[in-house]
Amino acid sequence: MTSEAFAPAKINLALHVTGQRGDGYHLLDSIVMFADVGDRLWFSSAKDMAISVTGPFADGVPVDRRNLVWQASELAGFCGTIRLEKNLPHGAGIGGGSSDAAAVLRHCGYAGDGAALGADVPVCKAAKAQRMQGIGEVLTPLSGWPALHAVLVNPGVEIATPDVFKALTQKDNPEISADPMDFSTAEEVVAFLQDQRNDLEAPAQSVAPVITSVLTALKALPQCRLARMSGSGATCFALMDTAQDAASAAQTIAAARPEWWVRPCVLS
Ligand code: C5P
Repeated sequence: MTSEAFAPAKINLALHVTGQRGDGYHLLDSIVMFADVGDRLWFSSAKDMAISVTGPFADGVPVDRRNLVWQASELAGFCGTIRLEKNLPHGAGIGGGSSDAAAVLRHCGYAGDGAALGADVPVCKAAKAQRMQGIGEVLTPLSGWPALHAVLVNPGVEIATPDVFKALTQKDNPEISADPMDFSTAEEVVAFLQDQRNDLEAPAQSVAPVITSVLTALKALPQCRLARMSGSGATCFALMDTAQDAASAAQTIAAARPEWWVRPCVLS
């Protein structure tokens, strides 16, 4: 019997780097939501483990133990065939492999947070709006937060997260301000986010200058309420008031930059 799971894109609406641990990992304070665009996985139990990859971003995805999906399966005790439909660009700051691994853990009813597989796996396993602290393992649900309309744009450059952290000079930045974060309207959330940052935006722009062009294009959209980079990039997002605004903004960007990956979406 085959069953299915969804691995949503992870979007960091704010990402503050507040320190660095002795082991090199950075302390973060981040607001994370999840898109209704993502990868899909299909599972069938079998005697041996096997992964096949399809979809627009299948190229270069390993089908052996190097794939986090394989490692998550071992952790959760699943053995069988997994077909992974890769709809999300990789090395893109939107979770990719972490969200795929988290989908395996959720699907298998794994009780732990999966932090051993990567710093982003716990938040991806929760898969709904969270404040994320520590190096990614301290999670506080942002319950009652409204869904947000957004456009995601990736300019097609893969970015290695460690390179961006290496380019970050100031590592002890202020935490996210505003407590409690109990907002009920999109306007309140956007106003709160205006005062926050992604501390990796500048270092990522130094690694991949095209990110500046993406942010400029998003900020120029008349529908844009806030434009920012997610994670360590290069994907950026713009928040919009309505699904129609997001759809028409996505059309504008896609027409101007046909080589970019552009998706209107809902974040929750
Ligand atoms: O944990 P994960 O393998 O996803 O992290 C990839 C890389 O990103 C780490 O090797 C580290 O260089 C960097 N990182 C970090 N601090 C975090 C998360 C990731 O320095 N909190």
